[in-house]
Amino acid sequence: MIRIEHVSHHINGTPILTDINLNIPDQRITALIGPNGAGKSTLFSLIARLQPLQSGEIHIDDLNVSHSKSADIARKLAILSQENNIQSRITVRDLLLFGRYPHNHGRISTEDQAIVDQTLNRFELMPFQHRYLSALSGGQRQRALVAMTFCQKTSHVILDEPLNNLDMLHARRLMGELRQLTQEQGLTTIVVVHDINMAAAYADHIVAMKDGHIAMQGRAEDIITAEHLHTIFDLDAEVIRHKDKPLVIHHI
Ligand SMILES: Nc1ncnc2c1ncn2[C@@H]1O[C@H](COP(=O)(O)OP(=O)(O)OP(=O)(O)O)[C@@H](O)[C@H]1O
Ligand SMILES: [Mg+2]
Repeated sequence: MIRIEHVSHHINGTPILTDINLNIPDQRITALIGPNGAGKSTLFSLIARLQPLQSGEIHIDDLNVSHSKSADIARKLAILSQENNIQSRITVRDLLLFGRYPHNHGRISTEDQAIVDQTLNRFELMPFQHRYLSALSGGQRQRALVAMTFCQKTSHVILDEPLNNLDMLHARRLMGELRQLTQEQGLTTIVVVHDINMAAAYADHIVAMKDGHIAMQGRAEDIITAEHLHTIFDLDAEVIRHKDKPLVIHHI
């Protein structure tokens, strides 16, 4: 469980997040949605302590994020950031092995190698394992970064726009993998997605942010309505039902 209590954040006096209170349930996929600039990535950066918390508290299970050692947070939570400036002269295999660092401190064991092999297979990256990241397509690189996040074998995983650069087939497969991994391993997974239909189809719980606030949260069928989409995104869209899920017609 990730517990966020009274979290506010300012940059140069401008409010970016205002009094965020949120519980992220275990063994579920939570989709974080909301317009550009709503504060999604900022909230992620505070959960993973990529920047210090200015006010409020965040707990990952019993770990208080502000007062914990970085190594303890790294063993509990893995993040895929929206912007990645990872050195591109590293091979896919080495990138995944690097993901094992919080567990092995650089001493790579046969277990680490086995986890990397499993993950390379799971994310269909085996054919690229010896390629440099710079020699991959945008979507292949994105899949390698997602795989590296899962190699860390943490109980909590937060992914900021993992579908970036993925074609339709790979986007669908990745969401399927997220669902399977979350169920199989009992993970607490949060994923920022802009494709609202992906959120509707794969997430157990939807949290919508707007202007630094939590605008609403709940089950996809309750949150994804034409009225709510107008409130959250200022968007006129039609919402129909397909196989018991809301389907948003938003592109025309
Ligand atoms: N370093 C910074 N200085 C000033 N403002 C910032 C800075 N970083 C972020 N912001 C502002 O904070 C707000 C929230 O940004 P954030 O990146 O969290 O949004 P987001 O919901 O992730 O958006 P997107 O969907 O575009 O990724 C935005 O208005 C952004 O301009
Ligand atoms: Mg963002």
